[in-house]
Amino acid sequence: MEVKIAALDDLPDGRGVKVEVGEVEIAVFRIGDEVRAIGDRCSHAKASLSEGEIWDGEVECPRHGSPFDLVTGEPLGLPATSPVPVFPVEVRDGYVYLTVAEDSP
Ligand code: FES
Repeated sequence: MEVKIAALDDLPDGRGVKVEVGEVEIAVFRIGDEVRAIGDRCSHAKASLSEGEIWDGEVECPRHGSPFDLVTGEPLGLPATSPVPVFPVEVRDGYVYLTVAEDSP
């Protein structure tokens, strides 16, 4: 299911926002004209990744500091060892669209 979440210009550049699509919590990050989306709940102890700091294509979990790759969802350092889901994002005509599967975690 594709969901229009916001105008690109309404997303803050360089930090995350949390978006809820049904029961699914998603961390959305705008980096310039690009947008990435991963599961909002850290795979270690469920901190909100949308509140983490981003740099160089990664977000740092605000609770214990594991970095997650914004393209693959993979943790790049401990204590997290499991990936978070990644959601396809498309920017069209200035609006941001997320694709969320019906069975998304
Ligand atoms: S809750 Fe994210 S690293 Fe612990």
